[in-house]
Amino acid sequence: MTNVNLRQFKPEKLYPPRGFIKPVIKQPQYLEIGAGRGKHALMFAHDNPDKQLIAIERTRNKFNDFADKSQQLSLDNLLPIHADAIPWTVHALGPKSLAGVFILYPNPEPKNASQRWLNMPFFEFLLSRMQDNTQLILATNIQSYIEEAEQQAKDLWQLSPIITNVDKGSERTHFEVKYLARGETCWQLELVKPQGYKTRFDGWVAS
Ligand SMILES: C[S@@+](CC[C@H](N)C(=O)[O-])C[C@H]1O[C@@H](n2cnc3c(N)ncnc32)[C@H](O)[C@@H]1O
Repeated sequence: MTNVNLRQFKPEKLYPPRGFIKPVIKQPQYLEIGAGRGKHALMFAHDNPDKQLIAIERTRNKFNDFADKSQQLSLDNLLPIHADAIPWTVHALGPKSLAGVFILYPNPEPKNASQRWLNMPFFEFLLSRMQDNTQLILATNIQSYIEEAEQQAKDLWQLSPIITNVDKGSERTHFEVKYLARGETCWQLELVKPQGYKTRFDGWVAS
C-alpha cells in the first residue's frame, strides 16, 4: 500500500474514550461503525450466533435505544459500545483482529470531505485491523459518496471495490428502510482486504 497524498494517521496521539474498557476479542469478530439504533447489529447477532459483533455508536440517545434493545434480547455475541469509533478502535483492537467491517449509511459530511470514511487517514488503520481476505461493506443513498469512495478505494488504498445497488426490499437499518421507502437508490461498496496487503500499522498495538 503506498499512500503518499494523505497525512499519516497518528494513533499514538489518541486517548482512550472516556470509561474505556478493553474488550475480550473472540473470533470471528466483526465491527460495525455508526450502528445508530442498532437494527442491523441486533439482526446480525441474532442471525449469526457463531459470529461476534462489536457495534459502535457515538450519539447518546441512539446508543441508549440500541443498548436497551440489546439488553432485552440478551445476545451474548453482541457488544454495543458508546464511543467515537476512531479512538475506540485504536485502543481496543489489535492488528488483523477483524473478520469483517460494516459502515452502513455513514453521515454524508457534505461540507467536510475529510470526514468521509475512505478519505480519512484512519481508514488505513482500520484496514490494518482487518484479517486478510475479509470484507468491508459500506452502504449509502448518496451517489457522489459511493463514487468518491470507489475512486478512493482504487487510487488511494489500491483495492478493488465492487459497487452494487442495494435490493429494494432490504431492511438492514433504519436509514435504509427510510431511503428505500422513499424510492431512492441505495448503493453498496464491498472491499476485500487481499492476502498480503500491507499498512503502516500492521505492527502497531496500543500500549
Ligand atoms: C446516518 S446515521 C446511520 C445509522 C445506522 N447505521 C442506520 O443506517 O440506520 C450515521 C451514524 O453514525 C454515527 N457516527 C458517525 N461517526 C461516528 C464515529 N466516529 N463513531 C461512532 N459513530 C459514529 C452517527 O452518530 C450516526 O448515528
